[in-house]
Amino acid sequence: MSGPATQYPNYSPGLEGVPAGITSISKIDSDRSSLQYRGYDVHDLAEFGSYEETAYLLLHKKLPTASELAEFKQLLGSERDVPAEIYSVLAAMPKTADSMDTLRTAFSVLAPFDPDYKASPTDHDANIRKAIRIVAKASTLVGNGHRIRQGLNLITPNPEHTAAENFLHLMTGQEPDPATVKTMDASLTLYAEHGFNASTFACRVTVSTLSDLYSGIVAGISTLRGPLHGGANEEAMRMILEIGTPENAEPWLRDALANKKKIMGFGHREYKKGDSRSFYMSKVAKELGVKKGITIYGEIADVLEKIMADEKGIYPNVDFPTAYGYYLLGIPIELYTPIFAMARVAGYSAHAIEQIDGNRLIRPKAIYDGDTNLTYVPIADR
Ligand code: SDX
Repeated sequence: MSGPATQYPNYSPGLEGVPAGITSISKIDSDRSSLQYRGYDVHDLAEFGSYEETAYLLLHKKLPTASELAEFKQLLGSERDVPAEIYSVLAAMPKTADSMDTLRTAFSVLAPFDPDYKASPTDHDANIRKAIRIVAKASTLVGNGHRIRQGLNLITPNPEHTAAENFLHLMTGQEPDPATVKTMDASLTLYAEHGFNASTFACRVTVSTLSDLYSGIVAGISTLRGPLHGGANEEAMRMILEIGTPENAEPWLRDALANKKKIMGFGHREYKKGDSRSFYMSKVAKELGVKKGITIYGEIADVLEKIMADEKGIYPNVDFPTAYGYYLLGIPIELYTPIFAMARVAGYSAHAIEQIDGNRLIRPKAIYDGDTNLTYVPIADR
């Protein structure tokens, strides 16, 4: 590091390795490549639990009993639908609008319709009620937002459906099959929360000014869409399709690395020995490929993963296997990041509420390296 930065030994570009707050929501163990939500291993939650159980855990700080889960699911179901005005706004957007732009816009428009819109931003119970509405409506906004962009009729959500079932039902217009629901539900659990990632941190910064929860959600979604973050799952699938065959994987990768390209779906700021969630999703995606007789994407993945691990010490993150897993499920690529957002709003909400409940305005220092004490020259003399 050079210049003024040398005077600040605790400065780290991109805040890499810099603790920026305390949380009890999730723990990432880089050395063990493990992830726990409020003390529970994410793989147990994905395999034996559900996204609804996970959302309850994130918001209420404990796993629900059977009756608590039933009541929570009933509440989510009752909040699944959205005001018709939201659809009118989305329909007024260009059909070419990016799916994340429409999702971000939808949450902006949704805020004033929330019955707790005028509640104090520090009202914990009102924020929990808002969070439940946000989590409930996210899959409807993604599913029917997609239908609007496709020029299809809107579908009224079935209040009995879970988030995974609701999304798949609205996306396809059909009742989803249980195997597809299970895969989608597990993926939503894996995507639900991940500590101080860029978009969650953006959400916390927003509510730390005592701005409202919806503004925090919009900040999170706005941040998530970038290809270095949530947008990587879409870019990873486009990369796999561009590679096309397992035989082309190695020459394609060597050319990309020689040109200093970032390989989408690989690497992670926190995990240096592999992203715990990618192990789970790789297994799911490869099994899906075998079941459907389409193993080519898993074979391409194997070539890329081996070279990246052996030669760069870089491993797939959650977005890489999720990309070809979703593709095998027939999900349009432009919905991959909205699905990530649909899951992560539970984590955003939990972090926003944690921030508000023990708030301190987030305002770091900046290291100035520009000019100082210049003499103002009137424009006539410049
Ligand atoms: C998510 O933070 C979270 O928790 C995010 C997330 C969540 O759940 O919220 O986990 C979700 O966003 C996962 C990440 C998705 N993004 C991608 O897949 C995009 C591709 N990945 C890279 O851009 C990168 O790995 C990052 C952004 C994810 C992490 O980058 P860092 O920590 O800033 O690391 P870096 O860019 O400083 O890289 C260190 C070195 C560099 O080499 P040198 O310049 O030192 O020689 O590793 C190289 C990089 O070039 N490198 C890669 C690479 N990732 C790192 N080289 C090629 N391809 C890559 N993917």
